[in-house]
Amino acid sequence: MRIDKYISELGIASRKESARVARGGGVTVNGEVVKDLSRHIDPESARVTYLGRELTYRKYTYVMLNKPEGYVSATEDSRLPVVTELLPDELRKMELFPVGRLDRDTVGLMILTNNGVLSHRLLSPRHHVEKEYVFTAAEPVCQGAEERFRDGVVLSDGYECKSAVITMSVDRLSGNIILTEGKYHQIKRMIASLGNRVVALERIRFADISLDLSLKRGEWRYLTDSEIAGLENTEL
Ligand code: URA
Repeated sequence: MRIDKYISELGIASRKESARVARGGGVTVNGEVVKDLSRHIDPESARVTYLGRELTYRKYTYVMLNKPEGYVSATEDSRLPVVTELLPDELRKMELFPVGRLDRDTVGLMILTNNGVLSHRLLSPRHHVEKEYVFTAAEPVCQGAEERFRDGVVLSDGYECKSAVITMSVDRLSGNIILTEGKYHQIKRMIASLGNRVVALERIRFADISLDLSLKRGEWRYLTDSEIAGLENTEL
């Protein structure tokens, strides 16, 4: 693998930025300063430092996207734009896919990876990974919703949701919901079961990872080492 690709895939720096750093002597491979990052290395065994920091090779890539409205949570769709179109070509080549789905009109935190095993574990209903949302309702949410969510809302098709936490604003027009499952349109259907309607929905947390508020809608960044470690160590 090319050294500049190795560095950019770890989210350390773009190829252009790392080329500049390398010209100044900021990149070493196995103890030797390397100025030409088109050289190839064995990513599994090479010891690479960047500005004095030793890098650890990672087999998989993980990014956080602040999903805008209008995008389908998929890698392809015959008619509509998909979330992976918001990533640069370099990342699209790595075949990342979204960990779970958000509706087309839902915005906020979406994690994408090419680690299928981890994604599968995080989404498995047995593992109760928390997802937190902020929503706005068409009308004030009825009193008693907190207890109904705690005890398990029953959807119109008879499905009994797992216990969830709903916290309402003072005017009861907006609130937060924490779920440990992810059924189709779950929050919209839970709020509908109260005789109300969701008019805006944003995911702000997935497991221990919170939406990075410095990302505008449509922007992405690599997950940090500690965010990845948190995902890998999520109580499963
Ligand atoms: N619940 C919904 O209704 N929609 C989403 O996109 C996510 C959770």
